[in-house]
Amino acid sequence: MTYIPILISLVLASASLHAKAQITAAVSCASKYEIPVQAKSGGHSYASYSTDGYNGILMIDLENFNSVSLDNKTGIAAVGGGVRLGNLAQGIWDQGRRALGHGTCPGVGIGGHFTHGGYGYSSRAFGLALEQIIGLDVVLANGSFVKIDNETLGDAYYALRGAADSFGVVTTFYLQTSTAPEVIKFSYSFLQGLESIENATAVFMGVQNFSLYSPVVDRNLGLGVTLGGNATSYTVHGTWFGSSSVEPTDWITSLAMLGGEGNLTVPLHGFLQQDNFYAKSVSTNVSFAEEPIRKFFEYAYSAGRGLNAPISWFSIINLYGGPDSQIGAEGKNGSWAAYSGFDDLWGCRICHERSYNAYLNYIDPELDRDEAWHLYYGKPLFERLKSLKRDLDPGYVFWNPQSIPVWNDTWVL
Ligand SMILES: Cc1cc2nc3c(=O)[nH]c(=O)nc-3n(C[C@H](O)[C@H](O)[C@H](O)COP(=O)(O)OP(=O)(O)OC[C@H]3O[C@@H](n4cnc5c(N)ncnc54)[C@H](O)[C@@H]3O)c2cc1C
Ligand SMILES: *[C@@H]1O[C@H](CO)[C@@H](O)[C@H](O)[C@H]1NC(C)=O
Ligand SMILES: *[C@@H]1O[C@H](CO)[C@@H](O)[C@H](O)[C@H]1NC(C)=O
Ligand SMILES: *[C@@H]1O[C@H](CO)[C@@H](O)[C@H](O)[C@H]1NC(C)=O
Ligand SMILES: *[C@@H]1O[C@H](CO)[C@@H](O)[C@H](O)[C@H]1NC(C)=O
Ligand SMILES: *[C@@H]1O[C@H](CO)[C@@H](O)[C@H](O)[C@H]1NC(C)=O
Ligand SMILES: *[C@@H]1O[C@H](CO)[C@@H](O)[C@H](O)[C@H]1NC(C)=O
Ligand SMILES: *[C@@H]1O[C@H](CO)[C@@H](O)[C@H](O)[C@H]1NC(C)=O
Ligand SMILES: *[C@@H]1O[C@H](CO)[C@@H](O)[C@H](O)[C@H]1NC(C)=O
Ligand SMILES: *[C@@H]1O[C@H](CO)[C@@H](O)[C@H](O)[C@H]1NC(C)=O
Ligand SMILES: *[C@@H]1O[C@H](CO)[C@@H](O)[C@H](O)[C@H]1NC(C)=O
Repeated sequence: MTYIPILISLVLASASLHAKAQITAAVSCASKYEIPVQAKSGGHSYASYSTDGYNGILMIDLENFNSVSLDNKTGIAAVGGGVRLGNLAQGIWDQGRRALGHGTCPGVGIGGHFTHGGYGYSSRAFGLALEQIIGLDVVLANGSFVKIDNETLGDAYYALRGAADSFGVVTTFYLQTSTAPEVIKFSYSFLQGLESIENATAVFMGVQNFSLYSPVVDRNLGLGVTLGGNATSYTVHGTWFGSSSVEPTDWITSLAMLGGEGNLTVPLHGFLQQDNFYAKSVSTNVSFAEEPIRKFFEYAYSAGRGLNAPISWFSIINLYGGPDSQIGAEGKNGSWAAYSGFDDLWGCRICHERSYNAYLNYIDPELDRDEAWHLYYGKPLFERLKSLKRDLDPGYVFWNPQSIPVWNDTWVL
């Protein structure tokens, strides 16, 4: 392995066949000279795996793969691998008043977000972003450019939906869109919840009870609790699909409001807005008992973590499952996609080892490789991914510090 102490960045011309041939050539060349490759879509990886997170990789920048094209008869959208979520949402709305379930931030890229889960308030109705993929155009490690789906190269299709960073460069996504619903956006700040740990705990237990047992909860509800501004605000946020005596807003306006910028459209070129932060995630398939929630608030409100926090922080708790949630509705077992998040709902595969796992899109660079693999994927899925890596990319063409290994090795750059 030759160590090359620079980041090599390749921005491709356009989504034409010519540009696809350029990706094929770049991947083949990198493979020949043993230079690991990572695609860059929105560049929003928490660990900067697509950008400057690691020296010596070849970054393939998909910025110019920016087309959004809706077939308004089938509702299938063909979307370039570098499209940002805001431009995706605006594009399918403009072309046919269609919607997809995905996260809220307009600048996030389709490439990372859709292939590693993808959660937003609409996910309980539409499923995770990943569940709306029906086909992919991809350049594989051997340089071949192929269209894959559940019937063609099914193993690659499986692996790319959950572990794309380890298996290829997606140039086009084929996505099943839905009719855009009417949306009621709500938020409520629990000022009394800030007054004491008892109140904070009681509010949380009440929200959890509502989401698990209230007869009005179905897939139309998206819900999250945010402890913001170093625990100086405590808010329940969400959306409800439907109209009522409250005036609903249309889908696209609700997305612009959730995105926080008042505008979903993101510049197609040179959009490099950046924040520095560190994040951790935990997902679980069990409801919380009062005691751990109390402990969480004791920690959050203890000296030096409120207004006097040494650094700025926030925490978000999102409802994933609950009555009628469509997340995981398609693939209740591990043969559907390389994604273990579904098992949080249907019986987490790693629960005999741990009672929680971690979210792939909130990548945590502090985890060591073994811990990351087991928290992200769980053992059976990880074993299957290693075997697929041996078939599809035995030479580590696609690599980042936590990517799928070929064996139980700790191959590092
Ligand atoms: C401000 C902000 C808000 C966010 N909000 C949400 C949210 O609401 N919900 C949520 O679920 N997540 C959210 N996230 C997390 C986000 O989903 C992930 O960081 C996601 O992986 C970013 O995708 P990207 O394409 O922008 O990132 P990139 O950094 O471009 O890519 C991330 C990883 O995916 C690989 N990759 C990218 N494109 C491709 C491709 N075309 N083919 C193969 N591999 C590819 C990269 O090589 C890299 O390893 C947010 C992140 C940020 C920074
Ligand atoms: C679907 O596309 C056709 C052709 O572009 C257009 O005439 C029609 O208005 C579109 N339908 C919707 C619902 O946008
Ligand atoms: C590349 O790998 C894919 C998937 O295994 C396979 O279908 C294809 O034939 C391979 N192409 C070449 C040129 O080896
Ligand atoms: C593949 O997906 C299509 C479209 O969703 C579906 O009709 C078909 O039954 C699926 N095939 C398999 C083998 O799962
Ligand atoms: C807690 O909430 C109740 C209302 O539910 C309120 O009366 C009380 O003042 C709050 N504060 C404390 C410190 O308990
Ligand atoms: C939640 O519901 C359970 C069972 O229905 C009940 O015992 C408990 O008191 C409720 N807690 C709150 C905070 O509403
Ligand atoms: C949180 O604390 C940090 C560090 O003390 C500070 O810079 C930041 O402004 C605080 N945030 C809020 C919303 O109070
Ligand atoms: C939204 O942003 C785009 C460019 O990113 C700009 O062209 C457009 O005018 C903006 N629209 C509004 C309403 O601000
Ligand atoms: C797992 O899911 C796949 C795809 O949905 C399905 O074909 C298969 O029958 C399922 N297996 C089991 C054991 O349920
Ligand atoms: C959570 O996962 C465990 C372990 O697989 C399983 O036994 C349990 O039934 C699951 N609970 C729920 C509510 O799905
Ligand atoms: C890899 O490690 C796992 C435990 O993490 C073990 O079960 C498996 O047998 C190992 N495989 C090889 C090929 O060493």
